[in-house]
Amino acid sequence: MLVSLKSVLTKARKGKYAVPAFNINDLEFLQAIVEVAKKLKSPVIVQTSEGAIKYAGMENLANMVKTAAKKDLKIVFHLDHGKDLKIIKKALSAGYTSVMFDGSALPYAENLKLTKKVVGWAHKKGISVEAELGAIKGVEDLVSVSEKEAILTNPKQAAEFVKKTDCDALAVAIGTSHGAYKFKGTPKLDLKRLKEISKSVQVPLVLHGASGVSSYLVKMIRQCGGEIGCAKGNSDSEIKKAINSGICKINIDTDLRLAFTAGVRCKLKRDKKVFDPRQILGAAKEIMEKVIAEKIKLCGSGEKL
Ligand code: G3H
Ligand code: 13P
Ligand code: ZN
Repeated sequence: MLVSLKSVLTKARKGKYAVPAFNINDLEFLQAIVEVAKKLKSPVIVQTSEGAIKYAGMENLANMVKTAAKKDLKIVFHLDHGKDLKIIKKALSAGYTSVMFDGSALPYAENLKLTKKVVGWAHKKGISVEAELGAIKGVEDLVSVSEKEAILTNPKQAAEFVKKTDCDALAVAIGTSHGAYKFKGTPKLDLKRLKEISKSVQVPLVLHGASGVSSYLVKMIRQCGGEIGCAKGNSDSEIKKAINSGICKINIDTDLRLAFTAGVRCKLKRDKKVFDPRQILGAAKEIMEKVIAEKIKLCGSGEKL
């Protein structure tokens, strides 16, 4: 069934585990997530960005997710990085059970005002809201202390922001970065800051840019003839520490994109005659399912339905 973000994350916060949030753009991603979530009895968050909506259509995505959300599953259907208020309003009527308002690029007062507005609309319909404070960028890529202070989430400000907006979850900037090519140096999270935020804020915290580009993925990408370049993510052990320090939602997009592409590349390389898309996409699903299972294990969300 479809459930709210608030219900799933409140339980995760109490149980000290996290729930993985996977970005989808098409049916194959959704099928892979559902298959593994069912097998491991894990709640999952299925999220679509504004880019995914532009690509696949909000109604198509919503219909797919609603159809997939059978009784034996707990799926949160979430709008990721909602910046356009028109898209957020549409999502509130399309079946999403949670929306993110991303005002992180706005001045603090403007972010607060608009987050509050979205919370007002969403809560009337029983829909949860994730907000964001701070900018998601790798700590190691920042040179000065003042630069870090300017973009990483401030614990005191976070407490005030949550109180005033009444948001249900807060995305924090503690040194992760979006995408595959995240860091020049060794990625490291500001766990001290995270613990302080977790103490001062009473809602579940969200970690964006949590793809780790694991050794399994690197192996698969290389085996399939792909190039990994300088891709580097936060290690599983750092993500685990973040979960132990208050993170309840882990956002994963890049790792599934890499897995999908590795699967397609492999199939086409190994079988020069294949032209049935079901065989090609089936191979992509297989690798995605392995990565999804890895993430559920990392989050500790298995057997938590
Ligand atoms: O955090 C953003 C997600 O990775 C979405 O990326 O806008 O390319 O769909 P996208
Ligand atoms: P990655 O692409 O780094 O996994 O980040 C995903 C994300 O934060 C989606 O909001
Ligand atoms: Zn994100």
